[in-house]
Amino acid sequence: MIRSEIDNITLEIEAFPLNGVDEVEAFRLRFLSKKGIIPGLFERFREVAPEERKEIGSLLNKLKVRAEEIWKDAKDRAESNKSGNTDFDATAPGFPFEVGNRHPLTIVAEEIKSIFNRLGFTVAEGPEIEDDWHNFSALNFPEEHPARDMQDTFFIDGADKMALRTHTSSVQIRMMEQGRPPFRMIMPGRVYRNEAISARAHCFFHQVEALYIDKNVSFADLKQTLLHFARELFGAETKIRLRPSYFPFTEPSAEMDISCTVCAGEGCSICKHSGWVEILGCGMVHPNVLKNCNIDPEEYSGFALGMGIERIAILKFRVKDLRLFSQNDVRFLQQFKYAR
Ligand code: DAH
Repeated sequence: MIRSEIDNITLEIEAFPLNGVDEVEAFRLRFLSKKGIIPGLFERFREVAPEERKEIGSLLNKLKVRAEEIWKDAKDRAESNKSGNTDFDATAPGFPFEVGNRHPLTIVAEEIKSIFNRLGFTVAEGPEIEDDWHNFSALNFPEEHPARDMQDTFFIDGADKMALRTHTSSVQIRMMEQGRPPFRMIMPGRVYRNEAISARAHCFFHQVEALYIDKNVSFADLKQTLLHFARELFGAETKIRLRPSYFPFTEPSAEMDISCTVCAGEGCSICKHSGWVEILGCGMVHPNVLKNCNIDPEEYSGFALGMGIERIAILKFRVKDLRLFSQNDVRFLQQFKYAR
């Protein structure tokens, strides 16, 4: 009897195994295809007695709709999971993917930027290949200054007096030539020097330059900026010391030491038992430099400073060999995962 057949098929479609594309196709062939069971039942509908037709017709339609529904769901599932494995456990814990972390030099550079940003300094950049004017002449280096020597500078073959910049001070000149005072900006970037590579020297490293030019900027402004900067970077107990120095582009010039971060001034191998470590050069921008950028030194004054990012990272993270920063050994880099 067709009625009991419909009942059996209804049970069968609910229990049919549907793991993977092959079984889904077997289901379709058996129940839904032209020669399949359900179209077969529809064909035999003619045999049904007229008084039963309404009921049987409705049962048959329900069976067909349900079979199509089961097939379509199983097909979608199998297709989104081609492996055929429908035992996927959505509640299982995820795989512990290793996340990357920032490079220690990036961490330090970002921190320096953020301290100066809070003081109202913006960030500017300049080219790594520089001409003699921006890297030396405009910064008041005399023609015969030893820093221009082949010993220190990588010159570009075949390009007249073009070189890899030896410091980020060149960006000061570009900024002052392009704009009008006041200037309050920092200029981070990579610099190059012709040095033998060792634990303490490299042929390239990174600097951050700061420049502040306005009316009535004094050495006191420089000193307070330096003190604030050192305390933000190395902690509130940090002391600073300024030693007179010489740079062609500043007058007066100074170098700044901070109290040793390792021994807090007691004396250790890092500070060579002096209690102090040098971290930057600074000074009041030389009137000749301002003139070279068409800024009237009678009207404007300002300070500049420059520091090596590697040097600060070495102090902050107690790294013993400069070469580690550019070797990209993950065993070294991964140690900065939780550094700030
Ligand atoms: N340009 C100097 C260097 O590379 C660092 C420096 C010293 C920058 C004094 C300055 C400064 O702006 O005022 O060694």
